[in-house]
Amino acid sequence: MCGIVGYIGGRSALPVLMDGLKRLEYRGYDSAGVAYINGNGIEIKKTKGRIEDLRKILPLPAPEAKIGVGHTRWATHGAPSDRNAHPHVCGGIVVVHNGIIENYRDLKTRLASEGHEFASDTDTEVIPRLISSHMQKGLPFEDAIKKTLSDLRGSYALGIMSQECPEKLYAVRNGSPLIIGVGLDEFFFASDIPAFLQFTKKFIFLEDGQMCIMSRGQARLEPLEPAGSSKSMGVVIPGKTGVEDGPKVVEIDWTPEMAEKEGYDYFMLKEIYEQPGTVRDTMREWLDNPVTMLDSLGITPKMILGLTRLHIAACGTSYHAALVAKYIIEALAHMPVDVEIASEFRHREQLIEKNNLFISITQSGETADTLAAQREASKKGAFTLTICNVVGSTASREADSVLYTRAGPEIGVASTKAFTAQLAALCLIAIVLGMKRGRLIAAEAETLISQLRKMPLLIEKALACEQQTMEIADRIKGSRSMLYLGRGINYPIALEGALKLKEISYIHAEGYPAGEMKHGPIALIESGLPVVVVAPMNNLFEKTLSNIEEVKARGGRVIVITDEPLGLRAMADEVIEVPPAHTALSPFLNVIPLQLLAFWSGVLNGNDVDKPRNLAKSVTVE
Ligand code: G6P
Repeated sequence: MCGIVGYIGGRSALPVLMDGLKRLEYRGYDSAGVAYINGNGIEIKKTKGRIEDLRKILPLPAPEAKIGVGHTRWATHGAPSDRNAHPHVCGGIVVVHNGIIENYRDLKTRLASEGHEFASDTDTEVIPRLISSHMQKGLPFEDAIKKTLSDLRGSYALGIMSQECPEKLYAVRNGSPLIIGVGLDEFFFASDIPAFLQFTKKFIFLEDGQMCIMSRGQARLEPLEPAGSSKSMGVVIPGKTGVEDGPKVVEIDWTPEMAEKEGYDYFMLKEIYEQPGTVRDTMREWLDNPVTMLDSLGITPKMILGLTRLHIAACGTSYHAALVAKYIIEALAHMPVDVEIASEFRHREQLIEKNNLFISITQSGETADTLAAQREASKKGAFTLTICNVVGSTASREADSVLYTRAGPEIGVASTKAFTAQLAALCLIAIVLGMKRGRLIAAEAETLISQLRKMPLLIEKALACEQQTMEIADRIKGSRSMLYLGRGINYPIALEGALKLKEISYIHAEGYPAGEMKHGPIALIESGLPVVVVAPMNNLFEKTLSNIEEVKARGGRVIVITDEPLGLRAMADEVIEVPPAHTALSPFLNVIPLQLLAFWSGVLNGNDVDKPRNLAKSVTVE
């Protein structure tokens, strides 16, 4: 959803900005651009396409600029093109923007009546034009920024600089993520942490309604109050952070290497292989003493006994983790769980009561609809817990409590390791809720916990199917459509398999509950149509076998994921074996071959699987 970066300090700005943009490219890759100030004033380079396309049009050697901003775009208003690429400029004022200005049409009309001629079709261009217009009417630069922001409706993270004021860099946040990196005698801003991890691990997480004014020596935070007021919210002086009354500087324990490919050709494959470790890391704190988990999240025994309902809202892959959670929590804790896509949840009447617990699941902690759902639940009086991967993200700051997944930075646009880390967190919640509500006897809880302990090893075994998934992907790569079937707790896994496949291979895929196939999708089955069936050995196994027969009878090509391969070899065209697991934990293992199958289908279809077309990793617009 667009990535923005900025730098001010002693280094040559352009390489720093390009490095940061490259690491944010997962947020959008329709166009890219940079602006910097050197002896000749402001220079802007921008182009349709990716960061590598931008690199080709940059001057060599890099100009001696010490201040600059950059942008990588996921188009919302205006087609991907050179003219719509950021930065946008007017009267020596440069702006990069992530978000949406909802009232840009009105503002554009107003500016056009003042004689402004627009050079792009974007909503963003109104911002530098408004600042310039306010300055022409006599406001000083900083006041003109604040006046402009009071004119805007919508969400934005902005980077602003001015030719007249080349020793200052401005960053503003209202509804879209923005962090300030604190270095020694230098500052950075970015949409996400990995942009500048190689330069600093110290970050300030801007709040909505805050502006950060950076110079080489210090960064000052101010509220976005009306022009004329500049009540400082604190100053950060590099090397002296932690000054009393200064903004909170958080030290992040991610390393730059965690955001590198480390020998893999794709982030997605690296992240699939990281799952034994990321599942282990997510559970590490709790496995030895799970009963303390909810207490330390502020969910007291009294609250648990009073709980009547749990609501979970999420988007995309995180929504599929929520669906799995419904099965596990209802089975182990006997508590009703409502799961909803966040963009639906927030726009209808919610029957939330005070003794309800609301859980948001979000890798980024910045998905606009998930944040809105969480706010809505909080307004209705529910206790809000977020299961989130990014420390300091908006969801984590706004929720009553946070359970962090420990998946490390996830760069591949299609989520993989965040999903299994979310499952790990949710399984622990389900087990502890079950125990505390007296619904799960100690022996069963111990069986589940001991299998969770083995989960990293079991995932490693499941990963052994990679070669086989590559061969199957090769055999099905010409397909135009596929079906994914699963039952019970593995129905969401069928949904997730289908989502992964369409995201990165662009093959149409539908996930369906296997029992529902007869009510529609069976009409699609014709000779050779690949049908992936998740069929673990459990109480639904025989019913799933009947579905496989139904597909075979109509000429479908059956690919089965199972822990019971013997009987299935004669029936299915392809059998991918995963290790056996308790039903509640089987999703961890069944999803692995589906991730790999999607990965190889994407690669063999010639797609950039880390940056699939039209998608963005962090969806910060509604
Ligand atoms: C986008 C990403 C998905 C992700 C979804 C929700 O669509 O491409 O991979 O699952 O957003 O993101 P979140 O950060 O809230 O989990």
